[in-house]
Amino acid sequence: MTGKFYITTPIYYVNDIPHIGHAYTTVAADILARYNRLKGKKVFFLTGTDEHGQKVEKAAQEKGMSPKEHADLMVENFKSLWKKLTIHNDAFIRTTDSEHVKTVQSLLTKLWEKNEIEKRAYSGWYCIPDERFWTEKEVIEGECPECKRPVEHIAEENYFFLMSKYQERLIYYIEENSSYILPEARKNEVLGFLKNNPLGDLCISRPKQRLSWGIVLPFDDNFVTYVWFDALVNYYSAIDYLADPHIHPSNLDSRFSSLGSEDWWPPEHHLIGKDILTTHAVYWSTMLMALDMPLPKNIFAHGWWTVDGKKMSKSFGNVVDPNEIVNKYGTDAFRYFLFREVPFGLDGDFSEQALIKRINNDLANDLGNLLSRTLTMIEKYCEGKIPPCPPLLKGGKGGLHDIHGEVDLQREIHLKRLVEDMNETFDLAMERLSFGHALDKIWEIINDANKLIEDEAPWQLWKTKNIGKLSGVLHTLAETLRIIAIYVYPFMPDTGQKICQQLGIDEEIGTAIHIAWGGLKPEQKIRKGAHLFPRIEKI
Ligand code: ME8
Repeated sequence: MTGKFYITTPIYYVNDIPHIGHAYTTVAADILARYNRLKGKKVFFLTGTDEHGQKVEKAAQEKGMSPKEHADLMVENFKSLWKKLTIHNDAFIRTTDSEHVKTVQSLLTKLWEKNEIEKRAYSGWYCIPDERFWTEKEVIEGECPECKRPVEHIAEENYFFLMSKYQERLIYYIEENSSYILPEARKNEVLGFLKNNPLGDLCISRPKQRLSWGIVLPFDDNFVTYVWFDALVNYYSAIDYLADPHIHPSNLDSRFSSLGSEDWWPPEHHLIGKDILTTHAVYWSTMLMALDMPLPKNIFAHGWWTVDGKKMSKSFGNVVDPNEIVNKYGTDAFRYFLFREVPFGLDGDFSEQALIKRINNDLANDLGNLLSRTLTMIEKYCEGKIPPCPPLLKGGKGGLHDIHGEVDLQREIHLKRLVEDMNETFDLAMERLSFGHALDKIWEIINDANKLIEDEAPWQLWKTKNIGKLSGVLHTLAETLRIIAIYVYPFMPDTGQKICQQLGIDEEIGTAIHIAWGGLKPEQKIRKGAHLFPRIEKI
């Protein structure tokens, strides 16, 4: 598999600090980016921050700061969290970047010149926290139908993007392109909405006297751009100035040099939460249609995290700070938990109890013990060197003999086959963003490898001097662990790397590493280290 892979996360508002929900989408994108790099693709993984609009302006005012000063401060919370979560993004966009501002203005000019934008007198109900207008019919007892907070009645002149005329084309596009919106249930939601409601035009301006913190409309400087129009454009503006190694020094990387900025379009996935599906599936899609630009290949809307069964909110005091969880339990355990506990696409509930259970069962018992038992036996029975691969496991004939006669390696050959078969099923799961399935596959192998130890009882083989068989078992376990390290790496980068190091492999997994059976060097000296995941006895 070669080619390019462009993936994005939402750009997060800088009005508040990041929480588990923000971490979730960003880690998901990181998993896919790492996996696709392993597959040899040129990857561009973009994340960033959404810095204009009323919410951000209000948060800055409350702290007595200018919106830009406030954004400069808040953006660091995101950047430092991404570092802590071992997020390897290729670029970080801020909507206050001057290059982004220019692109937004040039796209607005293009739409204006194509008569896709019109000025109109307007009155309607406005929800300040959500920054969107609602019609009389949509408002429920004076409240925003989405966030249930009171709406304000506003009458003013504004600019409208003529979105309504794209309604039929959008329905057709979604129906024709079965993986454009995923999961399926979300696609049906969007289609249901589009088929049963007339699509309005989209108000894309705010008068400056009401809101000044935004990008000035290029054709009327009494107005700034609606924050969602500005924000959605990030996915396109970034490739113009952040994916080009000659312009953006942090991307001076040979992986990029053969791709011009236009080559990155369209993205493979926009990963988002279900809260912002309409803005992406409807606003962004129709904006791109009006601009005559190809649509992204997929918009994937994942589910919502609650905490201890409750909606996460400041007023409940239950907002999960990923920094705290990581300080307590480690980055990889947190990353693993998020994608093992809940199928990607469905809602999930976070609790420390559930996290501890996963750490103790899956990570300490299953994976950690498999590595430490295997390495302890290699130290004890093979002078700390990985025993050579028996010919039978290389597909050779004739078998291996020792003083007990021909060595039977049926169980080892069976495990090898399972490992080889995993390649296809794992790839399929990752392509469908079924992270839970991909992890299930890895754990099936881990469990089979642990069972192999129980069934073959290498300590008995040592006692009875059954050395040929003992070598076969330990070689199989080491090779299986090496391949498991590569598969877990997108989910748990440090763990994957640590397994390799303990097996005595110096190569970085992130670059080229041999995924097929047979990558271990004969007589490779192992370097047994600390247990990967010590058990957690109590909080
Ligand atoms: O909406 N569970 O930014 P935002 C799962 N700036 N994911 C969650 C979550 C939860 N409880 N809470 C938040 C914005 N998220 C806009 C986006 S994009 C052009 C502009 C995640 O800071 C999820 O990815 O409110 C959601 O879509 C995103 O954070 C919203 O982040």
